[in-house]
Amino acid sequence: MPERILLTVNGVSREVAAGPDTPLLYALRNDLGLTGTRFGCGSGECGACFVLIDGYPAPSCDTPLWAAAGKAITTIEGLSANGQLHPLQRAFIAEQAAQCGYCMSGIIISAAALLANNPHPTDAEVRAALDRNLCRCGAHNRVVRAVLRAAAESAP
Ligand code: FES
Ligand code: FES
Repeated sequence: MPERILLTVNGVSREVAAGPDTPLLYALRNDLGLTGTRFGCGSGECGACFVLIDGYPAPSCDTPLWAAAGKAITTIEGLSANGQLHPLQRAFIAEQAAQCGYCMSGIIISAAALLANNPHPTDAEVRAALDRNLCRCGAHNRVVRAVLRAAAESAP
């Protein structure tokens, strides 16, 4: 039975009508129109659907709405502020980090969580932080360069 479930997405309170076991990913994409978050494996294995939940990268495909309610959810659309791209988004463009791009929103979400807690990560720390994000195009090295570039250009 659908229920009214309140979510806080990108700082805005949103209501969806859905079963409480519905994956957060479905509500983001199908009810709220936030299609930057991608469906990949659907089972918590690939990272394509990652969003920040209370600041931690989490698979929205594997997070039921009942568990997301009351938490602060940030999607790729919520990273930019005042019409300005997030430093990671600028760096990914500058490094031409994406190939097909399908994995990129999940990767940028994981990288944003890393830089929020560790503004000066090492190469190894970036690789460890992105360990749960798969990229079937093999763009990993360009991705790591982009995250290090974003850190260098934005950290005090
Ligand atoms: S689609 Fe969610 S982890 Fe792969
Ligand atoms: S750029 Fe294609 S899957 Fe990562």
